[in-house]
Amino acid sequence: MSALFQPFTLKNISLRNRIAVPPMCQYSATDGLVNEWHVANYTGMARGGAGLVIVEATAVSPEGRITPGCAGIWNDQLAEAFVPVVRGIKANGAVPGIQIAHAGRKASANRPWEGDDHIPNEAANGWQTIAPSAIPFGAHLPKVPEAMSLQDIERVKADFVAAARRALAVGFEWLELHFAHGYLAQSFFSPHANQRTDAYGGSADNRGRFLLETLAAVREVWPEHLPLTIRFGVIEFDGNDEQTMAESIDLTRRFKASGMDMMSVSMGFNTPTAQIPWAPAFMGPIAKRVRDEASVPVSSAWGFGEPHIAEKAVEDGQLDLVMVGKAHLANPHWAYHAARELKVERPSWVLPAPYAHWLERY
Ligand SMILES: Cc1cc2nc3c(=O)[nH]c(=O)nc-3n(C[C@H](O)[C@H](O)[C@H](O)COP(=O)(O)O)c2cc1C
Repeated sequence: MSALFQPFTLKNISLRNRIAVPPMCQYSATDGLVNEWHVANYTGMARGGAGLVIVEATAVSPEGRITPGCAGIWNDQLAEAFVPVVRGIKANGAVPGIQIAHAGRKASANRPWEGDDHIPNEAANGWQTIAPSAIPFGAHLPKVPEAMSLQDIERVKADFVAAARRALAVGFEWLELHFAHGYLAQSFFSPHANQRTDAYGGSADNRGRFLLETLAAVREVWPEHLPLTIRFGVIEFDGNDEQTMAESIDLTRRFKASGMDMMSVSMGFNTPTAQIPWAPAFMGPIAKRVRDEASVPVSSAWGFGEPHIAEKAVEDGQLDLVMVGKAHLANPHWAYHAARELKVERPSWVLPAPYAHWLERY
């Protein structure tokens, strides 16, 4: 039996296999409101057989969107729009998850296919960004963010809590906090972005404070029986990787003690000059190190979209769940095709009966 097609249980939630669709922004919402595109997108991937479908980075406030097309959950009307997405995912046998996010200094950008660059504050569709310090990311994102006051910090934490409550109310069963990729939370942890001199900057303990406090506040409203996971960039590829990994693993242990159930191990993306060693599955050994040293279940993405690579990551004990992103954009029935390629017996069972019946028959 394939390792990838073994079920996985976390808290009270059981996934039918180890295949997860990671959050992937669609940049197709209007003022945060998701629509039929999102329903079709997420429903299709659930139908294709993945165990878990995590809805894209969904902003906890308007200023927390990466682009004007990003999804939002900062009021009840926006939350309600996710009901058909949740129902569609569940009706197709997958577990519905959502990633809640604040983009920090990387917010107020054009959609990737419209330039991916910062929109000036003066433009009608741009806005002032906020961050731990008034330091721009650089390169295509040159805008100088406003350094957050302590009141701003409290407000954003409260926004995460309110977003978690709404996600629960509309039926999501798996919550991921976006603490990765150079967005707001990740940038608090990074010396590249955070040069504060108060309790939220300086030492690794201080740089981790915003993340830990946000997690603890969210855990109070997100039920114990449902998974609360964190996507976290544990490495920067900036030449200081041993120290970053050591600090990240230490923080991961503290996340666990504060109620995190699983980590999606990713990269920091806090500097445009990072030297990332792109290769299939290159994050596998890094994720395994976090899994072993912090004793937490892990998932990871980046180049696991070939069935034998995904299978091996689970078999070798690198990952508990494999995130398969772009391969799902290319083929929403990726799980079914992976089952065929891995010679899972009667692979059609990966699909719902109205499809499976015919694929078994002929
Ligand atoms: C179109 C697109 C949108 C993405 N949006 C998000 C996002 O909202 N949140 C996130 O954490 N990662 C996001 N990512 C990163 C993916 O979750 C994933 O890590 C990446 O695609 C690498 O996995 P892959 O090689 O299987 O595609 C996005 C990637 C793509 C291609």
